[in-house]
Parts: sequence; C-alpha cells; structure tokens
Amino acid sequence: EKGGYDYFMLKEIAEQPKAVADTLLGRIDESGRLALDEVHIPDHVLREIDKVVIVACGTAYHAGMIAKYAIEHWTRVPCETELASEFRYRDPILDQRTLVIAISQSGETMDTLMALRHAREQGAKVLAICNTNGSTIPRESDAVLYTHAGPEVAVASTKAFLTQLVACYLVALYLGQVRGTKWGDEIDAVIRELSQISTEVEKVLATMEPVRELARSLAEKDTVLFLGRHVGFPVALEGALKLKELAYMHAEGFAAGELKHGPIALIEDDLPVVVVVPSPRGRSVLHDKIVSNIQEIRARGARTIVIAEEGDETVVPYADHLVRVPATPTLLQPLVATVPLQVFACELATARGNEVDQPRNLAKSVTVE
Ligand code: M6R
Repeated sequence: EKGGYDYFMLKEIAEQPKAVADTLLGRIDESGRLALDEVHIPDHVLREIDKVVIVACGTAYHAGMIAKYAIEHWTRVPCETELASEFRYRDPILDQRTLVIAISQSGETMDTLMALRHAREQGAKVLAICNTNGSTIPRESDAVLYTHAGPEVAVASTKAFLTQLVACYLVALYLGQVRGTKWGDEIDAVIRELSQISTEVEKVLATMEPVRELARSLAEKDTVLFLGRHVGFPVALEGALKLKELAYMHAEGFAAGELKHGPIALIEDDLPVVVVVPSPRGRSVLHDKIVSNIQEIRARGARTIVIAEEGDETVVPYADHLVRVPATPTLLQPLVATVPLQVFACELATARGNEVDQPRNLAKSVTVE
C-alpha cells in the first residue's frame, strides 16, 4: 500500500502534484473564473464580510498564515490567523460580518473544532477547509471547501499542506473576484498560473537528490535555523516544524527581519541556516532585504542553504548550498518552496534512524487537548 516507497511520507510527498491538481479540478472554468458554488455562502454575504479570522493548528496554521497574505492582498479585507488553541480561550471579537475559516486535514482536531463552535455561537459564518469527508469540523461548519489530497497516513503533513494552500488561494481569489478589487487583472493572471502549478511542483520533485545528499551530510548537527520574509516566513516555520517532528532536532523558523532583534546571536560557525528567498521580480524590496540577511548571517559563519527561484543570480555568491525552485507569482511560492523542506526533513529523519511515518510522541489526529 506504500506503492513501492519505503515510507508513506515519501509516497505522499510524491503525490503532491496530483493532490494539487485534484484540489483545483472543476473549480476554475474555461474562462478562468472561479466556480466555488459548493461553498454555499451567497455572494452578497461574502461582499458584506468585513473581517476574516483563520483558526488552525500545526501545519494547517502555517497554511492559514500564508492565506492571510493572500486574502489581505487580493481582497483588502482585514485577516487574522490564530492558533485555535489560543483563540478558543481568548475573548475574540466576532460578529455576523466575520468569516471564520477553520483549516484541518483530519477534520477532528479538538482545538480547531472548539474554536469554530465558539465562532458560530457569536454569529460568525464558518467555512471549513478540510481533507476528510464527513468529519466533525465540516459537519459543524456553515460551508466547506474540501481539499482532495486523498488519505494522508504519515503523521507529518505534506500533501495535505499543499492542498490547504491551494484551497486558501482559491478562497482568497474568489473573495477578490466576488468583491471586485483593483487587483482584478492580477487575480486573473494568478488563476492562470495556479491552474498550471502542479507541473511546477512536479519539476521540484525531479530535482531533489542534492537536497537528500545535503540532509544526510547534516545528520550529526544539533540545530538548523530557517529564515523567510512575507510568505517565506510561514514556509520557514513549516520547514522547522517538519524537522522537529521527524528528525527530533532543534529547529526554529524566524522572520528574517527579526534577526537583529535577537536570533542573530545564535549564529555560529557552520550552523546550517535555510533561507527562503522570494522572487526578485514581484516585490524586489523583499528580495533585496533577504539577500542582505543572507550576507549578514554568512559573515558570522552560518552555512547558508538558500532556496531561490531559477535564474536568480544575485544569491549565488552567498549560498553554500543552492536549491532552485521554479518561478511563480510571489504569493504562490510556498507551493514550490515547501517541497525541498519536506524532503530535507524526511531524509534527515531516515539518516538519524528515526521512524518516519510515526514520529515519537505524536498522533496523526489530535482529538484531545
Ligand atoms: O488534522 P489537522 O490538520 O487539524 O491537524 C493539525 C496538526 O495537528 C497537524 O498539522 C500537525 O501539526 C502535523 N503533524 C504537522 O506535520
């Protein structure tokens, strides 16, 4: 049932192009408009929404963090993303004009379920993004957008994450389309790119051997840091989470702009630091900032592992290891940039003799607090 792979995780990583394509299937019509009728929240309600709140845990929370950038950019509606376990014990301000999005692969995560119950009690509309048909979270939501990743068996989430991202982009673009913003042309262009994105994920998977080799060479290390900006920041957090749960290593993700506010003190000779570099086109300021961050940490001895777009030559002099990903629109980059980090963590776990599919102390679905 592992389809010739040693672990479910490897199989699930390899299935990502299909999972992404399946999640897009039938949701973009021939004219490039989004068709999300299945969501069952009338357009007039979506037009009146004045706030979006996303609740989720773990990897799903990282997808939600990325969704915030997309939703605020394409819809100009304020969006907050919060850990479900924090949200449910606060006193959040919600009303009928709040759209709450609950993201969960299993649909059974206790904290996420409790957060959505809390939101509905206060009159908010809840949209679930979920991978498991008929599970509790979609059953208790006003609407659901299913991800079509297929069953995810490995405890570490991979293909579910990519499909959660796709679903989040669809919601963000749809809200943008329904509400009409000055980003109309950009939205149309991104929908076109999104519809082709599974091919790009496929290309990344075809070039992963050097990443595996690099991971094996770092098996004796104690710490790996991850840096990113903008949507690269949640990608950094996701890379660190994968490494913790699979390789049992000390791994931390930071917003690169925070370096000087503390984390740079951690940099020492030969410390591996993975840096997610945004496209040099799109938002060039972001790109320039991160290139200086790479220079800063390298000057202090870091061993830089740079994930950068094909054709980005500015990073070459500062990268001890360079991992190329295909060019994508800025906001879509997590779909390609996360894949090397999954492969990296999986290979490190194997090299350290860990159980890949069933990491210690963890359960696939967290139905208790
Ligand atoms: O089923 P869910 O998406 O609600 O699960 C949320 C987290 O428990 C899950 O993403 C967890 O962080 C994964 N093990 C990460 O790989």
